[in-house]
Amino acid sequence: MFIKILLVSMLVLEGYCERRFKLEQVLILSRHNVRTPLSKNLFEFTPKKWPKWKEKSGYLTAKGALLEGYMGEYFASWLQKEELLNKDCPSDDSFFVYANTAQRTLASAEAFISKGFPDCNITIHHTSENKDPIFNPVIHNNSAMFKLEASEQMKALLKSLNLNTSYEDLEDILDYKQSNYCMNEKKCDFTKDMNKIFVNVGFKPNLEGPLKISKSVIDSFIMENYEGLPSKEVAWGLLKNEQQWDLVLDLSKGYHNVIFNTSLVARDLARPLLKYISHTMFEKQYKIALLMGHDANIYTVLKSLDVKPFSLKNQYEMTPAGGKLVFQKLLDENSGCFYLKLDYVYQCTDQMREGKKLSLDNPPEFTPLQLEGCQLEDNGFCLWNDFVNLLYGLVDN
Ligand SMILES: *[C@@H]1O[C@H](CO)[C@@H](O)[C@H](O)[C@H]1NC(C)=O
Ligand SMILES: *[C@@H]1O[C@H](CO)[C@@H](O)[C@H](O)[C@H]1NC(C)=O
Ligand SMILES: *[C@@H]1O[C@H](CO)[C@@H](O)[C@H](O)[C@H]1NC(C)=O
Ligand SMILES: *[C@@H]1O[C@H](CO)[C@@H](O)[C@H](O)[C@H]1NC(C)=O
Repeated sequence: MFIKILLVSMLVLEGYCERRFKLEQVLILSRHNVRTPLSKNLFEFTPKKWPKWKEKSGYLTAKGALLEGYMGEYFASWLQKEELLNKDCPSDDSFFVYANTAQRTLASAEAFISKGFPDCNITIHHTSENKDPIFNPVIHNNSAMFKLEASEQMKALLKSLNLNTSYEDLEDILDYKQSNYCMNEKKCDFTKDMNKIFVNVGFKPNLEGPLKISKSVIDSFIMENYEGLPSKEVAWGLLKNEQQWDLVLDLSKGYHNVIFNTSLVARDLARPLLKYISHTMFEKQYKIALLMGHDANIYTVLKSLDVKPFSLKNQYEMTPAGGKLVFQKLLDENSGCFYLKLDYVYQCTDQMREGKKLSLDNPPEFTPLQLEGCQLEDNGFCLWNDFVNLLYGLVDN
């Protein structure tokens, strides 16, 4: 009898624990999926042949559409499991989709929707302007003070990086000394050539020099790898293990660190998007929102929100293609309090390379993120209202 009561109460307790947090609302800030390289002058930096791509420069590839479709299918199942959706098509006022106007972001949103919600008529909202100011990561502050402060902070970050080993390794991979760029420009040494910083209103913060060149060629290696090219063709077969990838990836991370990872610049760049996020979540209160943008948007939002250091396992990139910041509003059914849960949801490199379908049994990775300015309660989440205040604080001035 006693044991029976104990068992019953344990079951009740368990069921109760599982049900304790109910997902009430979710906003997904996504990077587009796999695309072709952006840079059109990669051929200058190596005598070797680059792979040929079917799609135009900067476009979502067929593989990227496939992978984003898997994400769409996964999120549809997850949202049903979390009971935020049922089997019916979501209505326009419960599921809101907004994409940047670039082909790769529109096509990523399309892939997500068409696979996740195949028979539903879901509108992908976007501006008709040429560049959407919400996603466009350009400098807004036109004061001389800002330019000075931003340049100095970026310079200090640049100086703090120790990338010589990575530079030397990348020069070998490219056979850089034999490149046209070295011969014509007489800039033949990544470790010695100058990096120049640009901070101009209306433009993305930028670098010119070896770090930018490195970032561009590494971007191609990363996309070649996701695309599933034979291993001997990805970076000409010269990135053989995780250590080698990590070593060159430090260059790409360093580049993004300099241009996006000071609070001053990040908050200036991301303010329109942060405003839009707060409007979407707190005023419009869509149950589900999907915003499809770029790595620049994710980097600057992460920095603006002061997300504590994290690493994404089984990924080389800090902001993987198709990766998503997932903001969840949870209701504690026990206390009636609302909480924020923030996860980085992404496909790991192998899932992408191999084109593995996702499902509740084979989910993408969920890496929990914490905000420096939002104190965690005993349950591991921060209070929703603290998050609301934090976000309003960033966009109000
Ligand atoms: C889909 O939605 C759009 C915009 O709400 C509407 O104009 C269109 O008629 C709808 N199409 C179908 C097939 O329901
Ligand atoms: C522009 O930057 C300066 C210097 O950092 C700052 O004092 C000012 O508040 C900023 N202006 C806006 C509109 O953000
Ligand atoms: C990197 O190499 C350059 C050029 O050889 C040198 O001037 C610099 O001091 C090196 N940096 C570090 C951190 O070793
Ligand atoms: C940005 O800086 C934080 C520390 O302030 C660091 O943890 C993170 O890795 C940096 N991000 C990038 C892209 O370098």
